[in-house]
Amino acid sequence: MWEILILLILSALAYKITDGLIPNLKDLFVKAGLYGVDLCKTNKDKIPEAIGVVSGCVFLVTSFLYIPIVFGNGLMDRQHFPHNEFAELLAGLLSICCMLLLGFADDVLDLRWRYKLLLPTVASLPLLVVYYVNFNSTTFVVPIQLRYWLGVSVNIGFLYYIYMGMLAVFCTNAINILAGINGLEVGQSVIIALSIIVFDIIELRGDQFKAHIFALYILIPYVATTLALLKHNWYPSKVFVGDTFCYVSGMTFAVVAILSHFSKTVLLFFLPQIINFLYSVPQLFHIIPCPRHRLPKYSAETDLLTASRTIIAKKDFTFLTKFILQVLTILRLVDKIEDKESVTINNMTVINLFLIKLGPQSEAQLTKKLLCFQVFCTCIAFVIRYPLASYFYDK
Ligand code: UD1
Ligand code: MG
Repeated sequence: MWEILILLILSALAYKITDGLIPNLKDLFVKAGLYGVDLCKTNKDKIPEAIGVVSGCVFLVTSFLYIPIVFGNGLMDRQHFPHNEFAELLAGLLSICCMLLLGFADDVLDLRWRYKLLLPTVASLPLLVVYYVNFNSTTFVVPIQLRYWLGVSVNIGFLYYIYMGMLAVFCTNAINILAGINGLEVGQSVIIALSIIVFDIIELRGDQFKAHIFALYILIPYVATTLALLKHNWYPSKVFVGDTFCYVSGMTFAVVAILSHFSKTVLLFFLPQIINFLYSVPQLFHIIPCPRHRLPKYSAETDLLTASRTIIAKKDFTFLTKFILQVLTILRLVDKIEDKESVTINNMTVINLFLIKLGPQSEAQLTKKLLCFQVFCTCIAFVIRYPLASYFYDK
């Protein structure tokens, strides 16, 4: 356990370094043209963008420094060096590193959505290769209720690799589309990471303890550097984190989920992101028009946020548009204003849904409520994972 203690000390240092670097480097980002305007404020100051690259680099360097500590015994006794575990850690860090590079390229070049789907797929390849070499287990355990038809487990073969690739794409983009108000991207990532850490600590006594220690090696420095970023990104944001941060975070969670073999549990911690993704599908696939920004609308008079909207011309209605609108209206999930020629609805994000249900909110209040929702979903995830799981799976 002394390795974890050293990791905690290194991570505390990483926090301090990230916290000091961000204010020192932010002018360089503005000078390089990497800045954005806060769309929920009256002032139009240049806010440095893509600062996730700073916390991401410190996170990776901390993890690199930690390698000789984790494998210290193996380095002394090279005949028994754990090559498999070493390859896993290196492949995981390589995937995160790739994502940092590709995410930064996205922030600089503002890539199109199709590339946003391609980048995590490419970056997850080292991970999938090491999974193939070390485990190559492609079976799913079937819930007790379905075993009569499917048997105890189902081997889905190559499809399992597609599932893992898609997990990386989902984790990265799901955080990126639940974004747009100060502190939300970073806040949700911290809560997800802490939830996985709590799960790892609970499971340390189980027979999979090695996999859970591996997850802790990656997540502890991640949380430390991300907390420092949150300090500067919290309302009112002095820096924006950029897509770099969302990609690094998503890939970090995907690495942990895949290499520690608990992808279903990690997905449980992504409940708000899954809801936001499903709700966003009609706009993401352009069945309903999707503006460049779907973040809430700011009113300078009241200093409050209200749901932002999109207009659908009635002449562009398809059967699918009508059907989706009808279902969402019945479920009371859209705020619809109709006139002769068009229908105006809220942009379909959980952020806007909160504003419709709770009324106009200040930005800080809204972020806090959304983060409370994330914590609430973590509690649900633990209930599903522990008391309820024994109903579906053998202990
Ligand atoms: C995603 C969302 C988009 C949302 C944007 C906000 C989808 C399909 N895309 O796009 O709807 O508007 O994230 O990040 O759902 N910004 C703020 N305040 C913040 C954070 C960001 O005003 O707290 C603005 C700034 O102008 C910043 C810009 O958003 O420059 C960053 O947007 P970017 O991350 O490039 O947008 P996408 O990830 O493409
Ligand atoms: Mg973004």
